Amino acid sequence: MEANIKPVVWGVLSTAKIGTSRVLPSMQPSPWVELRAIASRSLASAQEAASELGIPVAYGSYEDLIADPEIEAIYNPLPNHLHVPLTLAAARAGKHVLCEKPLAISAEEAAQLREVADKVLIEEAFMVRHHPQWQTARELIRAGRIGPLTAVQAFFSYFNVDAADVRNQADIGGGALYDIGCYAILSGRYLFEAEPLRVVALVDRDPAFGTDRRTSALVDFGGGRHLTFTVSTQNCGYQRVQAIGSQGRIEIPIPFNPPPGGATRIALDPGGALDGSRIEWIDIAPADQYRLQGEAFSRRIRGQAADGYPLSDAEAQMRVIDALFRSERSGGWELVA
Ligand SMILES: NC(=O)c1ccc[n+]([C@@H]2O[C@H](COP(=O)([O-])OP(=O)(O)OC[C@H]3O[C@@H](n4cnc5c(N)ncnc54)[C@H](OP(=O)(O)O)[C@@H]3O)[C@@H](O)[C@H]2O)c1
Repeated sequence: MEANIKPVVWGVLSTAKIGTSRVLPSMQPSPWVELRAIASRSLASAQEAASELGIPVAYGSYEDLIADPEIEAIYNPLPNHLHVPLTLAAARAGKHVLCEKPLAISAEEAAQLREVADKVLIEEAFMVRHHPQWQTARELIRAGRIGPLTAVQAFFSYFNVDAADVRNQADIGGGALYDIGCYAILSGRYLFEAEPLRVVALVDRDPAFGTDRRTSALVDFGGGRHLTFTVSTQNCGYQRVQAIGSQGRIEIPIPFNPPPGGATRIALDPGGALDGSRIEWIDIAPADQYRLQGEAFSRRIRGQAADGYPLSDAEAQMRVIDALFRSERSGGWELVA
């Protein structure tokens, strides 16, 4: 245990399920985090969540929480269309903001945050980058264990046809590409350590919801490097990332939702045995990516060195999503820039 830690005082915008069920219970035990307040559009909901999670203060509006002078950092898990407006309001009030993915609805909207990006920390909450299984995969690639990386394949799906779910509402940023396609894009950007040049997308929209319920894409990183992915809100629950080089392959079996605090493992396959008999399984020590993310963000607020990602990274991510939606409309290749 480190001595002299001054925990960062956090507030939470909304009683969103991801916050109350996953992110907050993971962050709370950290010595770097003091969870002070939670806000909801309904005071009763805020009070209920506060009482369940042992959070001392409940607010009946997001604005009241943002105005709390004790709060240093805000976690924003609002629906996607409210990410930028509330992050901007919080940042203008001097709060650092860890905002859920996708940071915005478009790169243009994300760029509104440039106004505050040199005053406070703003990070898109891609917790997977804080998990040692992703870091280990990238170290193996950097060490040349699979030869030059030329192909990344990602799949991410679940089945959800609840019309009330934020994911199935087109006007507030629903759909597969925003919700989980962002992780597939991130897989390519993280493992190639590069930005893509152009994309082509195939999109199937739900006739009632109007959201993309299945999006597949080819993403060209240049130099013969390809990301291919399918994401869907209406396929069986499944997720996988493969990184394939000339000499071998790395597979992350549960890349996005590994059990919080649990052990994981990734496969290093030198190739040559199609039955997988030459695979070396690499055990990853138990880790909680939500806690690690919250701690890294808090450490950076306290001026310590920790993994973090600037607004420009989130803008680069959004430019890929924008290009994929443009490709849906044009039916062809679209440049990312
Ligand atoms: N990193 C991850 O692992 C992960 C996982 C799931 C989701 N997420 C992200 O987290 C965000 C929330 O997802 P979720 O599944 O937790 O959503 P959710 O349970 O529906 O929560 C969204 C919250 O936003 C508030 N809200 C304000 N305006 C709303 C509106 N017009 N419609 C619905 N809710 C409204 C509500 O809180 P109040 O009623 O309390 O005001 C609601 O509880 C999304 O951006 C999603 O992409 C991230």
